[in-house]
Amino acid sequence: MERTLSIIKPDGVARGVVGEVIKRFEKNDIKIAAMKMIFMTKAQAEGFYAVHKERPFFNSVTDFMSSGPAVVMVLEGEGVIVKNRELMGATNYKDAAEGTIRRDFATDIERNVVHGSDSPETASFEIGYFFNSFEIVG
Ligand code: CMP
Repeated sequence: MERTLSIIKPDGVARGVVGEVIKRFEKNDIKIAAMKMIFMTKAQAEGFYAVHKERPFFNSVTDFMSSGPAVVMVLEGEGVIVKNRELMGATNYKDAAEGTIRRDFATDIERNVVHGSDSPETASFEIGYFFNSFEIVG
């Protein structure tokens, strides 16, 4: 059984699509093993996106991720890393397939509603960044 980290970003929370995103996970047989609402500091956002620290968008994305509350979840299921990324769609919503979360709700490459881990190694780091083992009930 695989696990991945999902974030409903501050734009998704502000625009009221938390329920819609979660519904898509549940409809696709993805189990929510942990969930909480957080309001990241700039430093916490920088730690989370440390892998992108040399990228031109690093300052902007960490400002955005610390601009309001977000919902973080551990998702569980067979092949859930790839499955979640399929449901999210491409990073740039303009490239995202019809019916994906980003295609339906994103407004900008940065304000793209959701984040999902891209590999087992990343998932392990990202889950551990926000949750301890007692908080994961799956
Ligand atoms: P995410 O999948 O959370 O990973 C890094 C985030 O940086 C990405 O989604 C976007 O929100 C943001 N971002 C902003 N500009 C870019 C870009 N040019 N390429 C990739 N990610 C970007």
